[in-house]
Amino acid sequence: MAITRKWWHDKVAYQIYPKSFRDTNGDGMGDLRGIISKLDYLKNLGIDIIWISPIYRSPFVDQGYDISDYYAIDPSFGTMEEFDELLTEAKKRDMHIVMDLVINHCSDQHEWFQKALKDPYGEYGEYFYFRKGVNGQPPSNTRAYFGGSTWEPVAGYEDLYYFHAYAVQQPDLNWENPKVLQELYTMINWWLEKGLAGFRIDAIINIQKDLDFPSYAPDGADGLASVVRMVESVNGVGEKLQDLKKNTFAKYDAFTVGEVFNMKREELEAFVGENGHFSTMFDFSANCLSDGPGGWYRNKTIAFDDFRRTVFQSQMECLDIGFLANIIENHDEPRGSSRFLPEHAQNEMGMKMLGTVSMLLRGLPFLYQGQEIGMTNCPMNSVEEYNDINTISEYRLALEAGLSEEEALEACYRFSRDNARTPMQWDDSSNAGFTSGTPWLKVNPNYTSVNVALQEKQEDSILNFYRKLIALRKSEEFRELFTYGDFHPVLEEETEILAYCRSLGQKKVMVIANFGKESAVISDDFFGDCRCLLTNDTVRISENRLTLAPAQVVVLTK
Ligand code: NOJ
Ligand code: CA
Repeated sequence: MAITRKWWHDKVAYQIYPKSFRDTNGDGMGDLRGIISKLDYLKNLGIDIIWISPIYRSPFVDQGYDISDYYAIDPSFGTMEEFDELLTEAKKRDMHIVMDLVINHCSDQHEWFQKALKDPYGEYGEYFYFRKGVNGQPPSNTRAYFGGSTWEPVAGYEDLYYFHAYAVQQPDLNWENPKVLQELYTMINWWLEKGLAGFRIDAIINIQKDLDFPSYAPDGADGLASVVRMVESVNGVGEKLQDLKKNTFAKYDAFTVGEVFNMKREELEAFVGENGHFSTMFDFSANCLSDGPGGWYRNKTIAFDDFRRTVFQSQMECLDIGFLANIIENHDEPRGSSRFLPEHAQNEMGMKMLGTVSMLLRGLPFLYQGQEIGMTNCPMNSVEEYNDINTISEYRLALEAGLSEEEALEACYRFSRDNARTPMQWDDSSNAGFTSGTPWLKVNPNYTSVNVALQEKQEDSILNFYRKLIALRKSEEFRELFTYGDFHPVLEEETEILAYCRSLGQKKVMVIANFGKESAVISDDFFGDCRCLLTNDTVRISENRLTLAPAQVVVLTK
């Protein structure tokens, strides 16, 4: 496939959840100074692109995904001067800063919405979706992502509602209104002018509405139907996204990564192809495997076979089209080791194996903070220890369905977004070296044995393994192969082995991982006189037979 080379193709990205990364002023919340202080750490890990979850001014109902001023840094993170300093310091190190772009909705505290509430039929009312009720009921029966109706009554106006796909405090912006688009484009360009490398684009598929706002067959005891029904039923988002790109990103050669769920399969090329809406988008297909019929408490454990098939399918589908962004976890997902590894492999070796399998796929690797030291889900003693709005609503949902408090808590332990949001574990001093104050969210009690300082000292730590892994991906010898090389699954007949081949011209690399509980012995001509580039154990090859311990991964070349 002929691909036009882009500056970001061979980069490795890292997501920072700023509130939990590093606090430098003792208020218990991470800040920009904290990020600046860790740039060398990230550079040393091999990171090129840093995506920072929202740092704009916000009431933090949804941790900054509810923006009240797109042009301001929230004071809890620092100042605009500090942000500019971050840009300068990153540039010095040849690193690129990517911000979150949350433009499906804003905060109810944003001045546009405040003005709209005062006069829903005026100019700013047109910035949002205000609708009359139907027969004394909300305009339709769609359910918001965080539970409850998508329609919130407007105080002081009888039978009038506004639409929100997420929380009540996150009103959806009206993408049919050219004035809104102009406001957003101007804002995006303002940030790009500052020297930002690009954006991670939040919840973007939701911008396309069915303007009739129909009702759907209920899918829950609440009589509501997931708003996803509407998202899936509409066409035309592509035109909006092309317009957005043309007026902003394209002018700056910016890097964009879309958060896209519920895309129509046949639209892959339109999203990430040569002239796609975005540079890339996250591959969530494996994460979605745990989705149940509704409610975390009904979520499923992922079978290895499904995991392997799904990863391969995504890779193959994108091969002649473009690049996906590969993740194990992010701030909305539980820690990946608890989700994708069989129980017996939920240990250091397994984490190295999972990391290798993910990072050497074709596409752009994204690490999430703490993944590089093997941070895990965090047990909470009661629901009060959770902060996340979605977790609280899922907990209630489980109770309403008749689960005990203990069972509801267990579902949160497996799937809560706070699992990934607990403070970064820097060392074994109090609060894991994250803050000298009281952390905004509990520190995972395992910080005394899982932390950066300790792993710096251990040669075979997960951290040092990730360093080698990234260095291999970016090495002179293999950078081109891992970036542009072909991908194809191998050893598919082996029921507990995940293996694939990356190749470019005469060069060939095989990644082989044993997800099984027992040692595996595999025969293949390839093993004959190959060279091992990386493993999390010792290499055992005799003639053309390879023996893999449980949770062992090898990266071989010939
Ligand atoms: C996706 C973000 O990643 C998530 O954290 C947020 O709650 C929703 N979009 C709404 O903005
Ligand atoms: Ca702070």
